[in-house]
Amino acid sequence: MPQNPKRYLVTAALPYANGPIHIGHLAGVYVPADIYVRYLRLRNRDVKFICGSDEHGVPITIRARKEGKTPKEIVDYYHSLNKKAFEDFGISFDIYSRTTSKVHYQTAQEFFLKLYNKGVFIEKETEQYYDPEAKMFLADRYIVGTCPVCGYDKAYGDQCEKCGTSLSPEELINPVSAITGIKPIKKKTKHWYLPLDKYEDFIREWIVEGHKHDWKENVVGQVKSWLDVGLKPRAVTRDLDWGVPVPLPEAKGKVLYVWFDAPIGYISMTKELTPEWEKYWKDPETKLVHFIGKDNIVFHCIIFPVMLKEYGEFILPDNVPANEFLNLEDNKLSTSKNWAIWLHEYLQEFPGKQDVLRYALTINAPETKDNNFTWKDFQRRNNKELVGDLGNFVNRVLVLTKKYFDGQIPEKNNYTEIEKETLSQLNSIRQKVEQNLKNFHFRQAVTEAINFARTGNKYLATTEPWKLWKTDKERVKTILYLANQIVASLSTLIEPFLPFTAEKIRKMLNLDQTIPWDDIAKDDLLKPGHKLGEVQLLFEQIPDEIIEAQIQKLKKQAQQNQKTMEQNLKPLKPEISYEDFDRLDMRVATIIEAEDIPKSKKLLKLTVDTGLDKRTVLAGIKQHFKPEELIGKKIVILANLKPRKMMGYLSQGMILMANNPDGSLSFIVPEQDAENGSYIS
Ligand code: MF3
Ligand code: ZN
Repeated sequence: MPQNPKRYLVTAALPYANGPIHIGHLAGVYVPADIYVRYLRLRNRDVKFICGSDEHGVPITIRARKEGKTPKEIVDYYHSLNKKAFEDFGISFDIYSRTTSKVHYQTAQEFFLKLYNKGVFIEKETEQYYDPEAKMFLADRYIVGTCPVCGYDKAYGDQCEKCGTSLSPEELINPVSAITGIKPIKKKTKHWYLPLDKYEDFIREWIVEGHKHDWKENVVGQVKSWLDVGLKPRAVTRDLDWGVPVPLPEAKGKVLYVWFDAPIGYISMTKELTPEWEKYWKDPETKLVHFIGKDNIVFHCIIFPVMLKEYGEFILPDNVPANEFLNLEDNKLSTSKNWAIWLHEYLQEFPGKQDVLRYALTINAPETKDNNFTWKDFQRRNNKELVGDLGNFVNRVLVLTKKYFDGQIPEKNNYTEIEKETLSQLNSIRQKVEQNLKNFHFRQAVTEAINFARTGNKYLATTEPWKLWKTDKERVKTILYLANQIVASLSTLIEPFLPFTAEKIRKMLNLDQTIPWDDIAKDDLLKPGHKLGEVQLLFEQIPDEIIEAQIQKLKKQAQQNQKTMEQNLKPLKPEISYEDFDRLDMRVATIIEAEDIPKSKKLLKLTVDTGLDKRTVLAGIKQHFKPEELIGKKIVILANLKPRKMMGYLSQGMILMANNPDGSLSFIVPEQDAENGSYIS
């Protein structure tokens, strides 16, 4: 890639629309991507910044099942929540679309067909894990077991989240269904596979050899270790009812694998954004950069590039600056344990302080290793660096200019050594910021940007204009002239990192245009006589109490979570005798019919075969199961419960259910070979 590519296409991993965004997402992907794009825009580069919701895949359907909603309801809700959270934090996407859009369906299907017609895929009928209870194949996150690599016992069928290894269900040790918890059986099904093994040389030459100096070590290292283990053909279709349908007549009921369709989302969203989308994707003079987290490396550095290459026409990424993970107060961020800071909640508690979080996350970005966010560090960074260094400098300059010169930029006189020295330092800092941004070293870049303000502070502290005012007004003019120029430079230099603060400074300087990046560190940005606007504080001290309260809140959140789990376990009931137990007549039975009772919120009407008879039972499970998934299910029924009339039907018996701590219900299911009518003892 030449020094100055003609244009840039920057993508940020499409977040699953199955939950809100937390600080880990922001630090790892969206803030660095936004800094990069804002910088390119300031340099007048032609750049498009693409993102949107990833709305397919098992994470969505599992969430829907858990909440008793449809996948569509789930993605609609989280798509708008997350879109707004990104806007609120100034993540300046050119488009934030979704993978359920029509354009996306067409684009993904067309992509599949092209590869299909080229004969790229291997078509294979194989035995795959199947849950006879839930009546579905168990791919990806629908199946859990022990990781063959690190021994973690909650690895998913597509990936172990502990060690990052990408897996297939067959590799799991002791796999169980994530839906019913039962041991799956095997069943035949046909799928289409991308033969990744054929592309090992291509990937090795392109990344491991070709990019070993300009890509991040963690990224090249991960790719290399995959290649060393050896790549295997990977199925790009699934037996699921939520996803982009496979566009082949023989593939009814099958959808594209979410990791096949989602990255194509980058293309379809660019299409939605601009009719000129092709030049961003097909002209070799475009520089394509994917911002992602480390768990996405295999998809962006191996699978998607293979797809793009086989399709032909498309360019490949010029860089994939993947980050490691962020921890929170020394523990892994976790949605399920509620160990997280959610963006929408942060904003409620720290209104207007988006930049403080952006700053704390940038300076702690997990660039080369996992990193840690703590509230104490957040406070220290705010109080010392933002208030103490940046805010203080800007405020001192503007307040002094108001006081001495009625808010007008004074004329300068001759520079002395210190002015020349300061200007040359500022110039070199600016170059360091540029160099670091170009190389995706955002922590270092933001540190240098604050150094710019520190250099300004040092200049004031050395020249002490407040001491000279009585004796040497002409000298004070020069000092405040230059100090104001430094503030003006800062308003552009910090823009990529702290866009809200940059805007505030521009307002205080009474600028109606952004100072061009190329003018940073110049000394004639504000003309003598230029009148400043209102002065306001950029940042304020965050006191200990507020930080303590946040730490407590986090602990409470986690405890609360723990407690709900525990409290929902009912205490043990009083002791009973064997005779008491023996009075219960419990039988194995099969549900043979299931219907909705439209008037009832909770009840379904079931017909069960108890082996002795066929009878009607009303069960309060409507919010948890769909009638059609119940037919054929083996269950246990309390058969001698006194019949009861409900909703106009006589309910004869009760179906045994496990009431889970999270409020969900599970059937008590006998082994497949238990017969209807067999009694339970
Ligand atoms: N939804 C995925 C995740 O959160 C990322 C998808 S990125 C894309 O891990 F390439 F598929 F778009
Ligand atoms: Zn593992």
